[in-house]
Amino acid sequence: MKKPESPVMEAEFDLSVLPEFNFTEIIDEVLRNRTNDPIVIASRAKDLAAMLPDKLPAAGAPIKEVLERLNNLLSNHCRRTTHPGFFGYVASGGLPVDPFSHALVAALNQNVVGYPGAPAAATIEQTVIKWLCEYAGYPEQADGVFLSGGSIANLTALSVAIASCVGSDIRRVGLAQACDGKRPVILCSTATHFSIQRAAAMLGVGTDNVISVETDDCNRVRMDRLEEQFQYDHTVLCVVANAGSTTTGAVDPLADIADLCSAHSTWLHVDAAYGGGALLCPELRHLFNGIDRADSISMDLHKWFFNAIDSSVLLYRNPSAAREFFYESSDYILFPPDGPPEQHMFFHLGPELSRRFRALPAFMAFCHYGAEAMGRNIFHNVECARYLAELVDYDDNLEIVASPQLSIVTFRFIDKFLSAVQIDLVNERIREEIEKQGQFLMSATRLQGRPVLRVCIVNHATRSIHIEGLIDTVLELGQKSAKEFHLQ
Ligand SMILES: Cc1ncc(COP(=O)(O)O)c(C=O)c1O
Repeated sequence: MKKPESPVMEAEFDLSVLPEFNFTEIIDEVLRNRTNDPIVIASRAKDLAAMLPDKLPAAGAPIKEVLERLNNLLSNHCRRTTHPGFFGYVASGGLPVDPFSHALVAALNQNVVGYPGAPAAATIEQTVIKWLCEYAGYPEQADGVFLSGGSIANLTALSVAIASCVGSDIRRVGLAQACDGKRPVILCSTATHFSIQRAAAMLGVGTDNVISVETDDCNRVRMDRLEEQFQYDHTVLCVVANAGSTTTGAVDPLADIADLCSAHSTWLHVDAAYGGGALLCPELRHLFNGIDRADSISMDLHKWFFNAIDSSVLLYRNPSAAREFFYESSDYILFPPDGPPEQHMFFHLGPELSRRFRALPAFMAFCHYGAEAMGRNIFHNVECARYLAELVDYDDNLEIVASPQLSIVTFRFIDKFLSAVQIDLVNERIREEIEKQGQFLMSATRLQGRPVLRVCIVNHATRSIHIEGLIDTVLELGQKSAKEFHLQ
């Protein structure tokens, strides 16, 4: 028999591409352009697709050439969330340290399944989780896990809440059998983010079984209505409270909800995906009284902690329910959930197995800027929102729809000679025209069935000058559009 020959391969993927371009220069240019260029340029999907190779390239090209080919697409067709006039959705601009920390994540390429495979990464992740648990007022035993975003954090929290309510046997027997034929329901408010509905659909609870309880004038859940729900003969799987609702930034009465949940031994999940950053502000902490009594809390670092996407945490006051639910041994990962710290596994606390080193950018951001400076920037966003509300109050052509509780303001342009329908049309036009002009962006949203102008300020670069600029633009466009109706 012939001796096997060893296969030969020249090194093709090596470091030689790196000297071809200056990483810092490229990043610097992206960051510098954040105010010069329009936030978004309208485009057609097929025109953008035409800028890219139709087929998977068979042969490679120098990285410089690849970047040049992408130049038009990336320079002109990435929505600039970094722009200080970007007020849409809940989208922070990212931090200047992020391009560096995310590059480091890629270079280190840690698979953060747990401590044994990624000791440094696991230690950093557990440290950041511990810091955030302390900010939430959680006890020593608390734990948590980094995930990709608020939707996944909410989904994960609900899966643990359900197991905690009906028993972790649910993994085997399913929801119907675990609930003994009673209707399983999730209680939240009409202001709750739609990720809860999606989670209910994914977990087999069903969206019909998400009960969205009425809110008060400040868009906070009505306690009387929430309490009422416990009188019915259904199984309350979990209550979801808002700590910063998406549309208006409403913070539910967390302490009252915690009282209600503990009286009924019901899991309380607080969705602080947006509002969580405000825990860093001493001036705002009182709004979150009671958050330390939640069984789980989701917080997006890529929202009001200013971090670049994707970075979210799910915290558990007592992680044992999660550990019991997620623990599943396999033939190659044998560590039990109650093992020593050197056997810590993140998949005992959430659904992911292979995970990137998400905690590094958060760690670097906290260490580089410090919690106090982050808190000051977050509070400045709140001051900008309050200033905007004052400017709205001051002008006869503007009216507040929901005053800011955190850093979201909803308002509209008004004109006493126009009907409600015409006013709605004017406001829709204002929003669309502003987006076309490119110096500001507000996302489309409705309150009480009517379109409103919604400004969400979660960018550390936003200053009062941008607020004044937005108000001037809204007034100018509103008056122009109203005049067209006057002339009809
Ligand atoms: C209150 C709230 N919860 C959850 C989410 C979903 O977060 P993500 O987009 O990170 O999945 C959002 C998104 O805006 C939100 O505002």
